[in-house]
Formats: sequence, C-alpha cells, structure tokens
Amino acid sequence: MAGAILGLETSCDDTAAAVVGDDLTVLSNVVSRQLDVHARYGGIVPEVASRVHVSEVIPTISSALDQAGVEGRELRAIAVTRGPGLIGSLLVGVSVAKALALVWGKPVIGVNHLEGHLASALLAKEEVEYPCLVLLVSGGHSLMVRMSAPGAYTVLGSTRDDSAGEAYDKVARLLGLGFPGGPVLDRLAAKGVADIDLPRPMIRNGLDFSFSGLKTAVATHVRKNPRYVVENVAASFVAAVMDVLRAKLALALDSQEFRSVTVVGGVAASPILRSHLEDLEERRDIKVILPPLAYTTDNAAMIAAAGWHLYTTQGGDSLDFGADPKMPLPQQTATATGR
Ligand code: KG4
Ligand code: ZN
Repeated sequence: MAGAILGLETSCDDTAAAVVGDDLTVLSNVVSRQLDVHARYGGIVPEVASRVHVSEVIPTISSALDQAGVEGRELRAIAVTRGPGLIGSLLVGVSVAKALALVWGKPVIGVNHLEGHLASALLAKEEVEYPCLVLLVSGGHSLMVRMSAPGAYTVLGSTRDDSAGEAYDKVARLLGLGFPGGPVLDRLAAKGVADIDLPRPMIRNGLDFSFSGLKTAVATHVRKNPRYVVENVAASFVAAVMDVLRAKLALALDSQEFRSVTVVGGVAASPILRSHLEDLEERRDIKVILPPLAYTTDNAAMIAAAGWHLYTTQGGDSLDFGADPKMPLPQQTATATGR
C-alpha cells in the first residue's frame, strides 16, 4: 500500500501528530506537551487539557505534515485515537480527524490508545516475531499481553488498582517532586541506595499487578521518617517496582512459548527496565524488541502504526464513530472486524 498515514493522538495531556509512510517508516513525529500548564495543579486537569488541545491541534498537525514533506491531500488515511482517555480531549482529536477526512476526502480510522502502545513495538528497528510478549506499563495502564499477530491480542494480566506509571506519579507528588514522576524518580534513584524495606505487591501471585499498597508504604515511611533521604526513597521505590515487573515478565515467559518480548508505554522509558530487557536476550533464547524512547510515552506515530494495520485489514471506519473514554483493548483475531 503506497502513501502515508497521518496519526493523531489527543487522549490525555499531549497533543501529538505524526506521519508514517510505507513499511512503517516514521516521516515525522511531533508532540506538544502540556506539562507546564498542568504542573501548577500537581496533575492533569481534564477541562484544561481539552482546551489546550483545541489551540494546539492544528499547529501540531501542520508541523507533522511539513516535517514529513507531505500534503494533506496526498495522505492515504487519517488514524485517530478514539479511546480510552479523557472524553473532552478525545473529542478534540476525533472531531478534527473527521473534519480533515471530509475536507481532504480521506478514510479515517479510529484507533484504541492501548493498541497504539502495542503497535509502538512495530516501530523498533528489530522486527517483532510472534507470538510476542508485551508488557504495557503507562500512566493509565499496566497490562501483560500476548500478541500473536498485529491486531491479535490476549490479555494475560492487568492491574487491580494503580498502574505502574500512576504509582510513580503519586509517589513523586507525595515527595513534592512534581509531575510526571517517572523521569525525576529515575534520576534520583540513580543517586540513592535502596535501603528501605518496601513491599513487592503480588510478586508471586499470577500476572495481575497491584501498586497502590507500594505507594501507601512509601507514604507511611516518609510520614514516620520526616528526615528521609529523598534519593534513597526513590531508589527503594524504583527497586520495588522493577522487582515486580521483572518477576512478572519471568513468570509470563516461563508459562508460555514466546518468540519475542517487548516493553511499551511511558514506564518503558525507564533505563533499568530497558537494561533488564537487554539482559533477557542473553539469559533466555528470546528476541528483545526495544521501541525507541520517542515511542514509549504518548505519541502519534504509534497511533498511525496501529492505523496502518487496521486500515489494511479492515479499511476505514464510517464517520459515525465516537470517542470512547472507557474503550477496552480489542481482544480479537487478526482478521476479525468487530470494531
Ligand atoms: O504512556 P504514557 O505517556 O501515558 C499514558 O498512556 O498513561 O505514560 C506516562 C507515564 C507517567 O506515569 C510517567 O511517570 C511514566 O509514564 N514515565 C516513566 C518514565 N518516563 C515516563 N516511568 C518510569 N521511568 C521513566 N523514565
Ligand atoms: Zn499512553
């Protein structure tokens, strides 16, 4: 299929547009982050996020098209995140995608945000071999998924409460470190010693996750030890999260046959997690896929990549689809159509 797909992502606080060409070559990947806007509130304010999307979305799309050297009318199709996410934010992307599809006479494809994260593995330089074990760890989700082909997923485990990224963000907030928590806690952890005894929730208990007890344990520790060393708290917290993620990956790899393994979503930016994955390649006979950092946190290249697959197998959607803030990951076969 010749041509390029415009991806559009506005499900949370990042306005993102990307152009992906043949063989999933990323021609541009533009992300306008709203971090400063929300920092003063200590977290994302949905109404503020959707208003910023309204002002950012057209300039972001223009930059993505310019950087790719592609005109709107030359596109093959437009792929847009339709859920899960914040309803006001999703509506901005879905409405703009449909309007541009009408103006340019292009098909539009509604993409599940989680499916987008899974598709980020397809943007790595290593080719995915199936079945692939995918650990999706983001701010909104922690999922262990068996991907037997692009578009064919089985969820093996998910979080019972907070996601891994949410735990990072809540711990950073209680330590007064701002938002998002991942990068700052990783930086501090590298300078600290993991000398605090924190729980590893559900570490030996199947493939589901639970991180809220860990966050509470950090809160209790800092309340009882007001002279805590922040680097050591960060190191202890990160060590606990990583122990759990490593143990779950090992359990999944022991329980079924996989030909490759990958980690996607914002927490996949963690250097500790990335180096653990590299170790796995040596210790087990399995191919490791490491999506470039730019495709771990929210971006539109991954939405365009998922859109390619959906478009080539199922064609465009009719224009009556809406935003779906609670959209689950479609667990389907590669050729099924029930979107
Ligand atoms: O995938 P993402 O951009 O958004 C969602 O779909 O949720 O993930 C954002 C999450 C935040 O919770 C952030 O703290 C976390 O990813 N994160 C990290 C790192 N960079 C971002 N967590 C651990 N280490 C990092 N370096
Ligand atoms: Zn995401």
